[in-house]
Amino acid sequence: MAFISDTLSRIQPSATIAATQKARDLKAQGRDVIGLGAGEPDFDTPDNIKDAAIEAIRRGETKYTAVDGIPELKQAICDKFKRENGLTYEPAQAFVAPGGKPILFNAMIATLNPGDEVIIPAPYWVSYPDIVALAGGTPVPVSATIENNFKLTAADLEAAITPKTKWLIFNSPSNPSGAAYSHDELKALTDVLVRHSHVWVLTDDMYEHLVYDDFEFVTPAQVEPKLYDRTLTMNGVSKAYAMTGWRIGYCAGPVELIKAMTKVQSQSTSNPTSISQWAAVEALNGTQDFIPERAAVFKERRDLVVSMLNQATGLKCPTPEGAFYVYPSCEGLIGKKTPDGKVIESDEDFAIALIEAEGVSVVHGAAFGLSPFFRISYATSTEALTEACERIQRFCGSLS
Ligand SMILES: Cc1ncc(COP(=O)(O)O)c(C=O)c1O
Repeated sequence: MAFISDTLSRIQPSATIAATQKARDLKAQGRDVIGLGAGEPDFDTPDNIKDAAIEAIRRGETKYTAVDGIPELKQAICDKFKRENGLTYEPAQAFVAPGGKPILFNAMIATLNPGDEVIIPAPYWVSYPDIVALAGGTPVPVSATIENNFKLTAADLEAAITPKTKWLIFNSPSNPSGAAYSHDELKALTDVLVRHSHVWVLTDDMYEHLVYDDFEFVTPAQVEPKLYDRTLTMNGVSKAYAMTGWRIGYCAGPVELIKAMTKVQSQSTSNPTSISQWAAVEALNGTQDFIPERAAVFKERRDLVVSMLNQATGLKCPTPEGAFYVYPSCEGLIGKKTPDGKVIESDEDFAIALIEAEGVSVVHGAAFGLSPFFRISYATSTEALTEACERIQRFCGSLS
């Protein structure tokens, strides 16, 4: 439609939201559907956090706040970065937005000029390229391989950098692969970045607390202090504290960048919800005891899903270090036929045929920039996961 802008034609609606909606629609029609598409913990927000929000309402914390967040939350963010990541930030370097997504949005709008390039390792979270494109920049996806456990290599990063590169968007543990970089793996990348002083790093640490098997999480500015002055360290309460609906994301970085992002937010959403900000203060300052307990449950589910998928004909599923996703390859099934004669030509065909035949909803890898794979979110009950994996095994076994 001519009325809609050219900019909008350059972006896609979120494929993960579309998959979740398709599962919902089929369920509403009475189909027995197991949705493995959604990227949110199935746990509830802990009670101490809910209580803090209720108290905030009763105290009358229901008005506009500072655009970039209340001082109490900015202090809690600085304390968190010091305590957990060994990073020193002043409150003036901290920034709060209505979710992690708007942090990315504000940072890109605040910094990108037409022609500026943003390196995005693939497979990537669906929103990165579209946010970059909306902000007028050029996304530069750099593919990783299953052989390298979906991690970007130093050589590939080096080769992707041009004089126009403005940012690297780094995400560990990763949505969609679950891959997380060890200290040495990350150091290999930061060594490259140190040599290219015009490249900034936006590190999306959303899944920091969801790592397994004693994996030690690290973030770029911690691994390479020389990058501190050009790193935006982003995080949020959505995944770690099961607060996806509260809409709070946060970050810290150089003051000039934070000021520019505040300017963008002042003309868009304004402050994040006052009540959610007080809930986030409690999330960051309150007990963290439930985090390892929940991570232990996620680890069990990861092991179950990886094992069951590797028993399915034609699938290959590496064991990721973190997040609540696996990213199996369906390469072994490309070219095969379903019992009713449809040829599986792509990971999208695989996902469509799977939901039609067995009512299991997954997201195809093309949406994350790397085929032929698909993403499964294991943030759902063990019973549902077991049943879903049995159906996937049956489906794969039915192809010829
Ligand atoms: C890697 C990654 N970054 C950011 C976000 C956005 O989080 P929020 O819900 O806080 O906007 C998500 C959510 O799925 C994510 O997976």
